[in-house]
Amino acid sequence: MICADEPDKMIACRKDSPMVLGVGEGENFIASDVSALLAYTRSCMYIEEGELCILTQNGITIKNHALQQVEKEIQTITWDAEAAEKGGFEHFMLKEIFEQPEAFKRTLSGRIHGNQVHFDEFSLTAEEINQWQKIYIVACGTAYHAGLVGKQVLEKLVRIPVEVEIASEFRYRDPMMDEHTLVIVISQSGETADTVAALREAKLHRCKVLAITNVVGSAIAREADYVIYIWAGPEISVASTKAYTTMLIAEYLLGVYLAQQKEMANFDERAAILKGLQQLPEVSAKLLTEPYLAEVQRAAERYGMAENIFFIGRGMDWAIALEGSLKLKEISYIHAEAYAAGELKHGTLALVTEKTPVIAICVQKSTYDKTASNVKEVKARDAKVLAIINEGDTQTAKFVDQTLEIPTINNFIVPVLAVIPLQLISYYIAKIRGCEIDQPRNLAKSVTVE
Ligand code: G6P
Repeated sequence: MICADEPDKMIACRKDSPMVLGVGEGENFIASDVSALLAYTRSCMYIEEGELCILTQNGITIKNHALQQVEKEIQTITWDAEAAEKGGFEHFMLKEIFEQPEAFKRTLSGRIHGNQVHFDEFSLTAEEINQWQKIYIVACGTAYHAGLVGKQVLEKLVRIPVEVEIASEFRYRDPMMDEHTLVIVISQSGETADTVAALREAKLHRCKVLAITNVVGSAIAREADYVIYIWAGPEISVASTKAYTTMLIAEYLLGVYLAQQKEMANFDERAAILKGLQQLPEVSAKLLTEPYLAEVQRAAERYGMAENIFFIGRGMDWAIALEGSLKLKEISYIHAEAYAAGELKHGTLALVTEKTPVIAICVQKSTYDKTASNVKEVKARDAKVLAIINEGDTQTAKFVDQTLEIPTINNFIVPVLAVIPLQLISYYIAKIRGCEIDQPRNLAKSVTVE
């Protein structure tokens, strides 16, 4: 609130939506997200639900709902101011896609020691982990898709059953959880209302909550028992890219960590995953070179005017197919759906014609043969097929229209790389179609309503 009679005063109160104050010299700021403050100050205060803030040019007073004064710690924002600028890129989305190799380094930094994972933020004993009989991963949008990969990572490495839930569904269906359940909430912003509500519901049921988030001091980070920061840096584009891939890396690190703490025998498997994760910054850069981008642009020109595009894959390839289709819908407004490749024949195949391009993700080696036979089924219905394949795969190109290769990496962590051409193709298609890439119609970066 501002008032004409008191021009040097702003009053703000936090109710449901996030609020952060910027502390400057001779100036103070109110914002909903720290990225808005970066150009002005690095000092901020996170405001809690129900708190009342009175700002003048030189002072900030904070009171609780009973109007008692509250002392707030001033926190330092470590993000670079340049991170909130486009830095020569036409759109934030492209810039953020290009920032992935650096973001991967930050997500991994200080967390791998030899063949061991270590988190500065928390530690867990075998006894604590063995309490958990079940894991829920709860999230929205792109973070939910990261959870679908996380399920496969955790089930394989830690051998605890994992269910992945959309946060807006989770709390309304009386989920079975108690002190023997770990609830993992994933959220880039750490403020998504449905995810925050799911976290609170889990705490009411005495579950332990582990948060994977990008924003230090966010509601989810503050309320969870354990936090893994993805350190992706500010993500401005509504369509999430580097936050998604760094969420995946956080999940792999978590999977290896839990298996290691439980003293599970899969030592070689864990070591191979960690080795692969450390190669990601360098290997991912190969997907951002001029010749590779030219190939993706060629695909974008070929498929960009379609009205419907299907994405197919199996296992983790299906999980990233879902993320690829979401990216495309969000920014290009093309109707896109992802299907488990084996499920096509139970209905969706009826929609496949020469006018429905199919993007097939064929990088999981364990399911390759089965996916390839599904791709042949759509080809037989005259669909144009773009396949995402592993480097060295000489088979697929023989029966599809175009391929995009993923450089060699440990096959279990390939989703981190395989999604990058999907991000790029959505970007270039949206560009061809003249869409508002960073701020698509009807969408918001942070959804603070339920
Ligand atoms: C919005 C954004 C998506 C994001 C989702 C969840 O819908 O547009 O990009 O995936 O919220 O956001 P979160 O901050 O919880 O990851």
